[in-house]
Amino acid sequence: MTSLRIVSVDEAGFCFGVRRALQLAREATERHAEVACLGPLIHNRQVVAELEERGMRVTDDIADVPPGSAALIRAHGAGPQVYEQARERSVQLIDATCPFVRRVQQAAAGYVAQDYQVLVLGERDHPEARAIVAHAGDQATIIESADELEGMTIGDRVAIVCQTTQRLANLEELVATLLPRVRELSVANTICDATSKRQHASVGVASQADLMIVIGGHHSANTNRLAQICREAGARTEHIETADELRREWLDGVHTVGITAGASTPPEAVEAVRARLLEMASGGER
Ligand code: F3S
Repeated sequence: MTSLRIVSVDEAGFCFGVRRALQLAREATERHAEVACLGPLIHNRQVVAELEERGMRVTDDIADVPPGSAALIRAHGAGPQVYEQARERSVQLIDATCPFVRRVQQAAAGYVAQDYQVLVLGERDHPEARAIVAHAGDQATIIESADELEGMTIGDRVAIVCQTTQRLANLEELVATLLPRVRELSVANTICDATSKRQHASVGVASQADLMIVIGGHHSANTNRLAQICREAGARTEHIETADELRREWLDGVHTVGITAGASTPPEAVEAVRARLLEMASGGER
């Protein structure tokens, strides 16, 4: 096998917010002997292990961070009480809240200040959605879908903001259901397009590939979804976490291989897969 064509999806892997958070985390470990990360930074075992080696530990509660040391807010953001507690306890905060997430927090707070009934379209237990509500002074309600409107008391003036990873179809359904029931509806479409762009670009590559390699945690929801989308686009698809899982026989009869990666997959993992495929194609691998 010598003429293997490898096509990588440009938008694959880390989104802007995760890349930025990881860079801030690495810089923080260079400046501080110990840095506490408030919740796991990303769902990738290799990256978490690397950060631990650099002196970062994960904690769920800022109350556990020793006074005078450093703590990092991840891309999902955190509520205002975390900032307050950090001040009170003299904990130095490194704020890696994604700027797009910050925009949602500000939109929710702005709507509350204008006396709207605020709905946050998002996952009830997700830290990003919870932090948005906290920034709205707990005056906002998380709603997962339009179905939940039934039985809810809806006022005259309603505003919607969205957790950044929401699907547009979910927002459209909520707006369509709500509109006939209110006098005024204001919508901040705060959905981040990083996910849909990655999916769209992956479909483009999958439709021209004989084999699609999707890289990311086996338990990662967004990576599994990506693999499913590639299968639906007609490509034989293999979901792997690291290059070690690649099998030489997968390449039998294959001319074009596409590579894409979930949102928590570092560029080094993508590069390692690419290199291993080239090695296999040139016969350098069993
Ligand atoms: Fe990533 Fe920020 Fe969008 S963390 S998915 S770029 S909201």
